[in-house]
Amino acid sequence: MKRRDLRRRVAGRPGPGAASGRRGAAGEPRFSTEPEDPVRFTREWDRFYTAFARLYDVAVRRLPLWRTWIERALPYIQGPRVLEVSFGTGHLLTRYAGRFETHGVDCNRAMVATARRNLERSGAPAELVRGSVEHLPYRSDCFDTLVNTMAFSGYPDGRRALAEMRRVLRPGGSLVLIDFTFPPDGAWLGTRLARFWQRSGDILRDMPELLRAQGFDFEEEAVGGGGSVRLYGATKPGSRR
Ligand SMILES: C[S@@+](CC[C@H](N)C(=O)[O-])C[C@H]1O[C@@H](n2cnc3c(N)ncnc32)[C@H](O)[C@@H]1O
Repeated sequence: MKRRDLRRRVAGRPGPGAASGRRGAAGEPRFSTEPEDPVRFTREWDRFYTAFARLYDVAVRRLPLWRTWIERALPYIQGPRVLEVSFGTGHLLTRYAGRFETHGVDCNRAMVATARRNLERSGAPAELVRGSVEHLPYRSDCFDTLVNTMAFSGYPDGRRALAEMRRVLRPGGSLVLIDFTFPPDGAWLGTRLARFWQRSGDILRDMPELLRAQGFDFEEEAVGGGGSVRLYGATKPGSRR
């Protein structure tokens, strides 16, 4: 698989897919360490998405499983202003953009172009820009909901990405985040799938710990993959204006 090729290309450092040295009983999560060279990490993933944007688009449209997972975010989205970070080919955007003032940011040129085409076809309006989760091109406290699906484990610095998402959310605003991680109950299938994604290059983090550290109140639920695909519905402290 190509993701494995990517891992080979970036091998030789404790970066993507490297498990932390934390010890634990069999089945206990061994979260990834952050990549040592974040610039290289992002560049490699960017090349990957440039090469596979078209295939990714076809896969999301033809394979119902992925769509089913990411569409679990829909009930959590509230307006009036919504931002999707790392929208990929934009499938989820086409499902809700007509109902809210919708903005989107993704760092990959090919993904942005594909999402623009998909949105145009669907007739759903959204303001899409190219940019990084680490420097979101928006003022602070300005979105009611921030959507982020299947992307967080591809960021080189989880704390920084989450802090930036928190910054642009209004006090009382909602973050809905779906991604791979270890199932907290150590479920056999989910744990093995999580390890597979980790070996393939994803940075699997302790999301509850990250969310708590930034003061979010949150709930979490399993959406698939034997509990390895999880949804976090989080609220930024403060009251909604
Ligand atoms: C696996 S795709 C997920 C796409 C879509 N959200 C979905 O659920 O199908 C990951 C996306 O994250 C984007 N991405 C990766 N690193 C990023 C960064 N640092 N800033 C913004 N977007 C990034 C990639 O360009 C890609 O479109």
